[in-house]
Amino acid sequence: MKYQIKFVDLTNLPPAERILSARELAFYQTLKLPKRRTEWLGGRFALKQLLLPQPGADVGRVEILPHEGGKPQVYVDNALYTGAFSITHSHGWAAAAISQECRFLGIDLEKVEHRINAWAEDFFHPQERQSMDDSFLTALWTKKEAVVKLLGTGLSLNSFDVRFVGDKISFYGEALQVYRSLGEPEIKLELSSRPQGFMLCVAWAR
Ligand SMILES: CC(C)(COP(=O)(O)OP(=O)(O)OC[C@H]1O[C@@H](n2cnc3c(N)ncnc32)[C@H](O)[C@@H]1OP(=O)(O)O)[C@@H](O)C(=O)NCCC(=O)NCCS
Repeated sequence: MKYQIKFVDLTNLPPAERILSARELAFYQTLKLPKRRTEWLGGRFALKQLLLPQPGADVGRVEILPHEGGKPQVYVDNALYTGAFSITHSHGWAAAAISQECRFLGIDLEKVEHRINAWAEDFFHPQERQSMDDSFLTALWTKKEAVVKLLGTGLSLNSFDVRFVGDKISFYGEALQVYRSLGEPEIKLELSSRPQGFMLCVAWAR
């Protein structure tokens, strides 16, 4: 299996104290917005379930802590986890993925809905805007975010510099430098419509 993925319904989460370690809980309590808190907690609940050796094991053995680069760092039994993982959340859902086979992984979940043209113009290069259809643009968005998570940069990059034209992905500027620094791995993308009404993109590379 290339990767494992776990979805979590954010309306049905156990209390934070049952999911988080003491260090995680201390950070969680600094988060002000209820939506952000729930998403942060849900992403961790999803990833912990993938990383724990058996259901019911002590969740505190896995810690997912914020890191200055943006991508969190994961510790299993206090040792830095070096496997590929990624977290996403959107509109009441969180999801996490891990992979034993891949060196790089990025996932993104977005609700399919109408967004204003100015949004598409801000984030997508004119070459990418082959349609203004909601499904097309949501798919493009999830692909872009999955890939910038795979690169480990997030959208600190210029979003035009990770460009999708047809089936081809091209990198420019700082994105190209980062991609080269990773050894130019062949990136594969998988799009699916799950949960219903959402689009999920998984980007992975060996
Ligand atoms: C990483 C990024 C792309 C997150 O996107 P998002 O849509 O806000 O959020 P998602 O729920 O999909 O993902 C958030 C998770 O990504 C992970 N993440 C954050 N920075 C990351 C990085 N540099 N590399 C890999 N993963 C990262 C974190 O696990 C985070 O969840 P957490 O804070 O609960 O741990 C962020 O860099 C960003 O810039 N977002 C802006 C969104 C935007 O305006 N998009 C425009 C359309 S292209």
